[in-house]
Amino acid sequence: MAKLINGKEVSSAVKKKVGDEVLLLKQKGIIPGLAVVLVGDDPASRIYVNNKKKACEQVGIYSVEYTLPAATTQNELINLIEKLNCDSKINGILVQLPLPAHIDEKAVIEAISPLKDVDAFNAVNVGRIMQGDYRFLPCTPAGIMELLDYENIDVAGKNCVIIGRSNIVGKPMAMLMLHRDATVTVCHSKTKNLAEICSRADILVAAVGKPRFVTADMVKDGAVVIDVGINRDKDGKLCGDVAFDEVEPKVSYITPVPGGVGPMTIAVLMKNTITAAKLQNN
Ligand code: GUN
Repeated sequence: MAKLINGKEVSSAVKKKVGDEVLLLKQKGIIPGLAVVLVGDDPASRIYVNNKKKACEQVGIYSVEYTLPAATTQNELINLIEKLNCDSKINGILVQLPLPAHIDEKAVIEAISPLKDVDAFNAVNVGRIMQGDYRFLPCTPAGIMELLDYENIDVAGKNCVIIGRSNIVGKPMAMLMLHRDATVTVCHSKTKNLAEICSRADILVAAVGKPRFVTADMVKDGAVVIDVGINRDKDGKLCGDVAFDEVEPKVSYITPVPGGVGPMTIAVLMKNTITAAKLQNN
């Protein structure tokens, strides 16, 4: 039986530390502020944005939400970002992805000031991550590293396999593990022998976006399995990218969905907002 890695517990500890730092900043007259921008009415994005706002309240970060209609133009969105770039009450700007198809995500991300880019998505911050210089941490991958650290799971020298090559998870995850001396393989939709590669992983990170994609035959006995997926199955039930029921008995550690990686992404976002407030106030 595997040990469940409890993301709720670890994220609460991270948020407690952030809350303490917020108090110290407030004593110096600095109130960290986060702007959360949601375009359109994607129900999953709505939930993520609500959770991010709730976390801000918990740790004492000032937050403002901008909810824009799905028909918002790219120019209108970029105009809002430029206004927020100049707003001294706002230290971090988060534009919830995905954006409606008529908006160029890259142009929007690049419009955010690198000093306020708390998702670490824009080119300056991605470049820094490549160099191992973490001004802003990539939220989901850094949250996963915190979970591994909490369980004293050392990645150095381990065979780490990541399924998914997104800019949000797969690519920065590979960098973080590489900088900690792991041997990293990134798999994707064109990977040949995917199941075989996964079954050699000491640590397997599933960030595919497909319900129960990772089955028991794809994991090694005693592996550590990190499930980044948040999906609905055909019955509408929330599930991860891992077929939990059949994988869990085989592995040593596994993250549940919900309550695994998800809360960690938000906890790291809170950390990054504090970093942004410090950077902007020297
Ligand atoms: N959509 C899915 N994950 C994320 C995230 O970490 N940040 C933003 N901005 N959008 C997302």
